[in-house]
Amino acid sequence: MRVYVDPERCRGHARCLTFAPNAFEYLDLEDRVVASDGEIAPEDEDSVRRAEQECPERAIRIYDQGDVR
Ligand code: F3S
Repeated sequence: MRVYVDPERCRGHARCLTFAPNAFEYLDLEDRVVASDGEIAPEDEDSVRRAEQECPERAIRIYDQGDVR
């Protein structure tokens, strides 16, 4: 699994950091979040899926086996 944060949609709500702090990094100067390195360890996949569901801006994209959800 890989994850991407759409910079056009992210508004810095930071809910993703609550659910999957290892998968995202907050950029103070830009008040938004980026994916840490994009590659998600199997044990963190459920947390990242929860973060995707909880983002109010629908800014998080998950890639599974080459497909975008
Ligand atoms: Fe941005 Fe959504 Fe996280 S708006 S900071 S990706 S909860």
